[in-house]
This record gives sequence, C-alpha cells and structure tokens, in this order.
Amino acid sequence: MFAVRRTVARGSLALAGFLAAGAVLAREVRDWSDGWEFSFDKKEWRPVAIPHDWAIEGPFEPDGDTATGKLPWRGTGWYRTNLVLDKAPEGRRIFLDFDGVMCDGTVFVNGQPCARQEYGYLGMRADATAYLFAGTNSIVVKADTTKLTSRWYPGAGIYRRARIFETSDVYLDERDVFVNAGKDGDGAWNVRVNGEATSRRLVDVTAEVKVCIRSPQGEVVADCRGEVRIPPCGKGDFSLDIPVRNPELWELKPNAALYTAEISIAACGNEEDSIAVPLGFRTFSFGDDGFHLNGRRVQLKGVCLHSDLGILGMAFNRSAMRRELEALIDMGVNAIRTSHNAPAPELLELCDEMGLFVWDECFDKWNDTSARGDIPLEEFVSAKLAEFVRRDRNHPSVFVWSMGNEIPRGIACPPSPEYWGGPSASGTSAERCARFRNVVKALDPSRPVGMACCFPDIVARGDYDALDITGWNYNEKYMPMRKRHPSKPVLYTESASAISNWGHYAAKFPEHRTDYDFDAISIDSYDRNSAPWSDIADVEFARMERDRFVGGEFVWTGVDYLGEPTPFGDSPVNGRDYAKKDLARSSYFGVFDLLCLPKDRAWLYRSVWNKDAFTLHIVPGHWTFPEKAGASIPVYVYTSADEAELFLNGASLGRRRKNPAATLGGEYYGVMQRYRLMWDDVPYVPGELKAVAYNADGTVAGEETLRTAGEAAAVVLAPEKALLPPDGKEFVFVRIGVADARGTLVPENGRRIYFSVEGPGEIVSVGNSDPRGLESFKDTSSHTLYNGRAGLYIHRTAPGRVVLRASAPGLEDAAAAFD
Ligand code: GAL
Repeated sequence: MFAVRRTVARGSLALAGFLAAGAVLAREVRDWSDGWEFSFDKKEWRPVAIPHDWAIEGPFEPDGDTATGKLPWRGTGWYRTNLVLDKAPEGRRIFLDFDGVMCDGTVFVNGQPCARQEYGYLGMRADATAYLFAGTNSIVVKADTTKLTSRWYPGAGIYRRARIFETSDVYLDERDVFVNAGKDGDGAWNVRVNGEATSRRLVDVTAEVKVCIRSPQGEVVADCRGEVRIPPCGKGDFSLDIPVRNPELWELKPNAALYTAEISIAACGNEEDSIAVPLGFRTFSFGDDGFHLNGRRVQLKGVCLHSDLGILGMAFNRSAMRRELEALIDMGVNAIRTSHNAPAPELLELCDEMGLFVWDECFDKWNDTSARGDIPLEEFVSAKLAEFVRRDRNHPSVFVWSMGNEIPRGIACPPSPEYWGGPSASGTSAERCARFRNVVKALDPSRPVGMACCFPDIVARGDYDALDITGWNYNEKYMPMRKRHPSKPVLYTESASAISNWGHYAAKFPEHRTDYDFDAISIDSYDRNSAPWSDIADVEFARMERDRFVGGEFVWTGVDYLGEPTPFGDSPVNGRDYAKKDLARSSYFGVFDLLCLPKDRAWLYRSVWNKDAFTLHIVPGHWTFPEKAGASIPVYVYTSADEAELFLNGASLGRRRKNPAATLGGEYYGVMQRYRLMWDDVPYVPGELKAVAYNADGTVAGEETLRTAGEAAAVVLAPEKALLPPDGKEFVFVRIGVADARGTLVPENGRRIYFSVEGPGEIVSVGNSDPRGLESFKDTSSHTLYNGRAGLYIHRTAPGRVVLRASAPGLEDAAAAFD
C-alpha cells in the first residue's frame, strides 16, 4: 500500500510504503493533486494544486485577443514534483495518469521523456516503471501551448485530474476493455465484455478473468469467469457474455440506474489487477419521429458546453461541474454536447450518474485548432479518434461519437456563395469521412458516428453519406440531409446562439434580433437578440415542435464561456469602431452567465423544457429603474402555466394567455406569443410588480413579486450549500449582492465588495457576470458587482470552522459560516 508522507523538499510529494516489501497488491490508485510546483523559467518555482490553469491567473490583457478571453494562455510552463519509493518497482508497474495537459504535454521521469500527448483535450498515461528507482525520483511535466490555435479560451497547464497508480505486471487497462449491454434477439439483456489483458512477464501467462456485475445498490446480480492466455510481454484477448435478468434501465434522470462491471484478473490464484467500469442498461434508436430511449420517444433538450468552468478557467473541479449540471438539469436539460473537444473524463462520470446523454465530440476542426503540428492530418485524426473512443466508450451517457464541428469543405469542393468558408486541405471529403468513421466503428460498433455540420450545399457531394448521423448547426440546415437520406437520423447540434448580458435592460428596446446595445457594448436581456446567423430561443422551440424527425436541439450555449464574445469581439461592429480595450472577453451566448447563474433566458427554457416544475419569472428581473420614471417599459412573463395576470401596485394590467396558434412564418417575433406572456407598455411606477399564474381550471398556480429597491443598506452572502466538506476538493459557490433595508436586492453596478476568510478556508475564484470585466478572478480580496451580482467559490483546506466575511464601506457586513 502507499501512503502520503509530508514533503521532504518544498513543493514535492513523497510517497512512502509504495511497493511495500512483500505485499501482494491489486490496483492502488492515488489522487495526485498536491505536492506540485510550477515555473515558467525553471528557476522560480511556486507551489500549485492540480488541476491548475496558469492562464486564468491573468492578468487580463485589455488589448489582448478577445477570441481567447484576453488571457495569457500561450507559452511553456513546467511542473515538478518528487516520487519517493521505498524500493524499485520489480514485478509491479507504476503509471502516471493525466486526464489533460494543455496542450502539448510531456512527462519526464528522472530527466527522461516517458509520455507525450500532443492533443491537450485527451489525457496521457505514462508507464513510468522502467524510469523509476528506489529513492527520490524527479517528475517533471512540460505543458506547451505555443502551437495551438483556438477559437476560444483553451487554458494552459495540467488542467485536469492527475493520478498515480500501481498494478501488478499482469494487468488490465480500462481503455483495452469494452463493456457493452445490449439486448439479444429474444429481448434478453446480455453484457458483452471484450478486452485485452497485458503482461510484462517474460513467460507465457494463463490467467483467469472474472467479471462481476453490481447493481446500483452494490449487489452482485451476475458474474462470469473466463481464461486469457498472454504471450511474454504481450497482450491476450478475452470475450465474455453475461446475461443479466430484468435490470433497472438507465434513464435520462438524476440518479440514473448505474451498474458497475468489476473485472479482475488472477494468475496462479493470485489477484493481479482489477478495474471497475460503469454500465447502463439502455436502448436507443432514431426513427421518423426522432429519438427513442428505452422504447419511448424522448425529446433531446440539450446544451453545448465548452470545457472551461467560467471563473475557474480550465482547471477542472468536479463539484463545480456538478453544480453546473444540476442547474442545467433543473432547467430541463437532458443532454450535453461537449463542443468541441474531448471532455474531462470526470464530466462523463457525472453524466453517467446524473442521467444525461452526451454527444461526445473529439475535435472542432482537423487543423491546428487541435495543435497537430507537423503530423499529417490522416494520421493525427485517426490516432486521436481511436484514443478518444477507447477512453470514452465505457460511459453509458455517451450516445453519439462526433468527429468534429463545422469542418470546412475539402479542396475538391467548389466555394459556395451561400455558405462561408472556402475549400480547405484539412476539410471533408466522402472518403475521409468514411475512413474516420470506420476507425471509430471498429472500436465501438454500438453507437452512431457523425459530426456537427453547417454546409448543406455539400450534402449533394456525398461527404456525409457514410456517417450514421449528422448534426446541423442553425437555421434548420438539417433539411437537405433529411431530403437526401430520409432514413438517417439528424440532430440540431447548434440552435439559438441567442445572446444577452445578465440583468441588462437597454435604454432602447431591440427592434430586431441584431439590434444590440451598441452604446453600452452590451446585449439586452429581453431575449430578443441572437447572432446574425441564428435565432432566438422561441423560433427554435417552434422548429423542434414542427420537425419531429429531429431528435432534439443543443442550444449554443448552456453557460457563458471565456472567449468568443460575439458580437463585441471584433471592431467595427455594425459600422462602429471600438477600442480593443472596450471589447469583451467572454461570451454572451450562455443561458447561464459566467458564474453559472441564470440569465432571464434560463426561465424561458425552464418554462418550456421542464414540465415537472412550476416556473414563473418576470422580465425585467427587477423593478428598480429610477432613470425610466414616467416611461413605459415592456414586461414579459416566462411561466409553465398558460395564463397569467400582471398587477402594478395592486392594479391589474390584464390577463394574458399563450397563443398556440402563433407559429413560424409570420412576423419574426410573432412566435414569441406561443411561449411568453407579454405586456408591451407598462408605465414605470416604483412599487410592486406582481405576476399571478393560473392553472387551466382558473385556480392560482403561483405568484412572483418584484419590489423597487431603496438605497443599498447591507451586503448579502448566499452560499448555495451549507456545508463545506474538509477535503479541499469540494467548492461551494456563494452568491454576492447588496440589499436595501427591507432585504430587496439592489441591481447596482460597480460597487466594490471586500472579502476575508477566517479559519481553514480559502476563496478559490471570484467574479461577476460582466463579459467586459477585466478584474482578476484570482484577486480574491475584493470584486465589484455587475447589475447587482457577483459570486465566488470557496473551499475548506483543513478541518475546522470557516467564516467568510464580506463588507463594503457604508453598508452592513455579511458573514457566512461553514461549520
Ligand atoms: C458555430 C460554431 C461554434 C460557435 C458558434 C457561435 O458556428 O460551431 O463553435 O462559434 O457558431 O454562434
């Protein structure tokens, strides 16, 4: 067994008892977050915790590249630590396992390069055995982002989980094993386990393989044994079939029925190694009426997600990711598209548990956005697709393999006047798509292989003919494919690209969808705006109701991300020049903002998508507009009910009902009447604005009231969770605002709030929702409010009471205690 011994040298981690004398061990896996140091020049080192993203520390570059978040992600960074072994690893193997190093990562053990991954969205596993000796071993990881080009913020460094594990020299690698539950011809469930076992011994090995299927409650429901013969220093394959009777089905719902396949290998009666693989019993298919899961039609209500976690940057944190998924599920989301790269393995683990389907996407483009350097395209894409599928195929949440996004047309294709993007040497062709699809299919015949497309004009050329499925981005572009291949499934892989700033109600109401707030360099929050090539949410809802053959949509995007701040990323905008420093650094697309707090749009989606919950939300989201006194302003109500009434200071402003006859094809905004209740001219009078929603039988379903806020009187801290567990890994999000004397939140801009922490706690990151903000997320001593909102992540670093305090001059302080 190995145990952690506190460091001998600053910043290094010593593992003692590792390879303990005489011990016969199965697999040991250890988290490897601590004990690391980081440096740019290999002279000055400082301690860091893994996952780490050096670039999120900033500083923001006011004139920097808006597309990648104005953050300093390009460069070469070095990480080092020590691994102390009591004895040399004879008869054992030691693996150093990195889920992601952005973007070209090399692991050096005692000065020798021992693993490299040039595609930062995939991980690397270094078999370090041959490089290790008894005593102190030096481990260095180089992270090089200099060759990457990116259309968004990619982060930099060892940004995902790192682990170290030890096995016998006869072992299993979960990437060599494919566990798949399917139904046989009689409708009975069968789990097929195809795998390879590896031996590093110099003799033939005959080993027993045992598979044990455990229910979500941990009971063994089936098992099976087989034999594998492994040549010296080679691999031997095995295949086992295990019938399972009446399993609980994996569904798109929280706490999905997740089984486990435990696979162990034993030689001469000695257990050498074992792995546990998640397993879900589910069937899915596509038909004329869309997507079916376990025999029922299911509308996929998906969102696209980039890999960053907002103010945490690319440094992955499981609790922050879970928080994000919980918020999305509450909105009605049942599927995620990992746009546009191989996601953190921990995201897939969460989706398995939480009942979310994943459109698992390997690449954006096949060019240098994947930093392939001088590796030929065919070789690179085939190799990385294979690694990707071997990594992810044991996740029941994965339902489609995507080989890329909006890959340009290949060179043999004439330019089209209709769609952007000239022919490219790294583009598609029928032959390329077929070949790459076959690479994937050979490793997993059970799932459809496709990609996200946006060039309907090349459908006729046959580029996509070999694909099992195609996804289409925007503007119902799935139609030509549907015409050419009526029996092939299509999904709407990018819908909406609607845009807004949290809490921004522009001086001038948007008259059309690209009528942005050019003065404030912001987008109004009445949800009437989208990118020029796309549409507002309501139009997409109506398309999905009409085009039932489409399995569902993936909204661009679920949450705001760093980079790509369309439309305020490039000057000029609409003929108007802006200084670079005034342009934004994060997106406006998110239904949730960069803090993963809901924008108004989140309630619109929730009212349509989450039929199990009651939703009632008033837009604008507050009733404090002193500058609009005497003016009339529109009020929208997003509700799951069909009817609501609005009251201003007790007087009714009338009832509205949703109009099911409103549909596509008329005036652009006409379809909004199908999903929103709207009062166009409400006189702004301070006081109370109340919405009452009614059930079909006329009874009250619920009410929501906004009150005009007075002067700010107190700082408000609202932790989303009460308890901060003491392992340092769980981050708790705390909402920050200011309230008046009656407790009504004040939608202020720019007030600075100061923080302090007592006890063994630490603020990890702090930020607000402003896409143009240039305040550091890592200066955790203070931050300003944006439209009344800011937020931070805090964690506990050791057992003990933690108190977070927040203050602002002239206001009452706030404190949040975590016992
Ligand atoms: C799509 C693209 C996405 C993002 C989006 C913004 O065309 O696939 O990566 O750029 O546009 O609307």
